[in-house]
Amino acid sequence: LEKARRPSVIWLSFQECTGCTESLTRSFSPTVENLIFDVISLDYHHTLQAAAGDAAEHAREQAMNTNAGEYLVVVDGSLPGPNANPGYSTIAGISNYDMLMDTIDGAAAVVAVGTCAAFGGLPKADPNPTGAVSVQDLVKDKPVINVSGCPPVPMVITGVLAQFLTFGTLPELDEYGRPRAFFGQSIHDRCYRRPFYDKGKFAESFDDEGAKAGWCLYRLGCKGPMTYNACATMKWNGGASWPVEAGYPCLGCSEPDFWDAGGFYKAL
Ligand code: SF4
Ligand code: SF4
Ligand code: F3S
Repeated sequence: LEKARRPSVIWLSFQECTGCTESLTRSFSPTVENLIFDVISLDYHHTLQAAAGDAAEHAREQAMNTNAGEYLVVVDGSLPGPNANPGYSTIAGISNYDMLMDTIDGAAAVVAVGTCAAFGGLPKADPNPTGAVSVQDLVKDKPVINVSGCPPVPMVITGVLAQFLTFGTLPELDEYGRPRAFFGQSIHDRCYRRPFYDKGKFAESFDDEGAKAGWCLYRLGCKGPMTYNACATMKWNGGASWPVEAGYPCLGCSEPDFWDAGGFYKAL
């Protein structure tokens, strides 16, 4: 029997650190191998594809032509805005802006993976030297799904891709364009340290008795109450742990502008 053609995915990496792809490779259900061998045809991805140079760009063009109107574009990283110097970030001599606009033309939808793609992230942090903008700042005529996090939880990335490509439907999104299934509740609402918060038991330093006893990290700067993500339930590294369980406050990495919003090393 002829195997059904797997949906085509074109993954564009712009102003990013490869952390989002690193996270993707840590997914365990589905694994990245399940995803690219059984669910999707990953036709273009700088880090994971075998092709390089002209052959890589040819693969992108061929995927666009063969699957017009049906393929999914995934973006990690922000882009220099349309008024910025296009030479700040180029691939094969093509500016990020031109490559995005060219590639989304025949796409069914766009998934912005990571806080850089979803909200501008690190490149957009003050003083934003490249005039970085997010995908949703530029894409107005296609559905955009934001999968934020710096990086996003691995299974949230694969789960969103698998859901869209299996059922062909957009997930219900929150006000920031994130799937409610994963971003519908705050870190604080699902945190196992919440009973300590409710009782007013707070660690005051990283090595005091409260920290050793697993008390709430709010006074050490935890942004869990204003951060929406699935870390507290899905966790990281195959479900092993997550920042708060490892003893560090949530930085709010799935929220817009978290780099400038005081998430790092600022106790309250
Ligand atoms: Fe790197 Fe974070 Fe941006 Fe992903 S969202 S590319 S991990 S800086
Ligand atoms: Fe909320 Fe953070 Fe305290 Fe957990 S550690 S209960 S997320 S403030
Ligand atoms: Fe990010 Fe906070 Fe999760 S820093 S990884 S949203 S616990």
